[in-house]
Amino acid sequence: MDLKSLIRDIPDFPKPGIVFRDITTLLRDAKGLRYTIDLLKQRCVDANLTVDYVVGMESRGFIFGTPLAYELGAGFIPVRKPGKLPSAVHSIEYQLEYGTDCLEIHQDAIQPDCKVLIVDDLIATGGTAAATAKLLQLCGCNLVGFGFIIELRDLNGRASLPNVPIISLVEY
Ligand code: PRP
Ligand code: HPA
Repeated sequence: MDLKSLIRDIPDFPKPGIVFRDITTLLRDAKGLRYTIDLLKQRCVDANLTVDYVVGMESRGFIFGTPLAYELGAGFIPVRKPGKLPSAVHSIEYQLEYGTDCLEIHQDAIQPDCKVLIVDDLIATGGTAAATAKLLQLCGCNLVGFGFIIELRDLNGRASLPNVPIISLVEY
C-alpha cells in the first residue's frame, strides 16, 4: 500500500512556506489505518524490539501509540503538555525555533528497568522525541527505540536522538 498517497499535503500551514503533512486523511481510511499499525508492529518485530510500554506524545502520538501498544501486548503511557497530568510529574523543557516548550510524564508511570518504545506521528527537528527520551531517563527506564509514521529527512531530527533503532514508515 502507498501510505504517502493517503497523507495530504497542505501548503502554507501553519505558516507561509511550510508544507504540512496531514495524517487525518490516512486515519479516516480504514484499510490505510490498519495497514499503518500492522506495518509499524511488523517493523518492531523485525528489529527484535522487546517492549513493556509504548510512550506516546500529546496529541498525535496518542493516536498511533495506543493501537501499537495493544498489538505488541504492551501498556501505553501518555506524555502530555504541561498541567494536564493529575499526579506528580517529571517535567522537561526544550527549545523551539522561538521560545521553549515543556512535556510531562507521571513519576510513577514506569518502573525502573522497563523497556520502552517512544511513538509519535512525525519527527521534524527531533526536539519533541529527544525531550521525551530525557523524561524516560528521569524515570530510569530503558529506551529500546523510536517509531514514527513520518520522518522529515531534511531536518535531520534523528541526529538529536539517542543511539537506539529508529523506525519510520514514510520519508519526505
Ligand atoms: C508535532 C508532531 C510531533 C512534533 C514533531 O506535534 O506531532 O509531536 O510536532 O516536531 P519536532 O520533531 O520538531 O519536535 P505538535 O507539537 O504540533 O502537537 P500536536 O500533536 O498536539 O498537534
Ligand atoms: N506535518 C505535521 N506535523 C508537523 C509537521 C508537518 O509537516 N512539521 C512539524 N510538525
